[in-house]
Amino acid sequence: MHPLLEKDHQQLIDLVEVMDRCVVNGNSVSQITQYLDAFVTIAQDEFKHEEELMENYNYPDVVEHKKEHVLLLEQLRSVHSKLTHGHTPFGQDYMHWLRNWLETHLLDADERLDKFLYQKNADGHKS
Ligand SMILES: [Fe+2]
Ligand SMILES: [Fe+2]
Repeated sequence: MHPLLEKDHQQLIDLVEVMDRCVVNGNSVSQITQYLDAFVTIAQDEFKHEEELMENYNYPDVVEHKKEHVLLLEQLRSVHSKLTHGHTPFGQDYMHWLRNWLETHLLDADERLDKFLYQKNADGHKS
């Protein structure tokens, strides 16, 4: 996998694990909100890295892939705003949704991008 993607993805996966424990342990809304902020920050960076690679290597599915990124960030912002306004608890259902999004995106859209970068011999790519 491309080293940049690998590093970013690991950070997101690790954070999801921490958030999961936080939700299971019934931790405070402010704690989960902080994790959510961190997730958005890392995800934004990660998406930017991928989008730069897609543009640099003329990736054909760039529009579709970007759409998935934009949609997730919109959904996360909406969840965040509901949380800070006290409209909803952040429960296992949200965790399930977030984990599911990440797994699906990593295994599908990102995997396809990674294969493409490998074929293009993109900088720093290792098999
Ligand atoms: Fe990714
Ligand atoms: Fe992606």
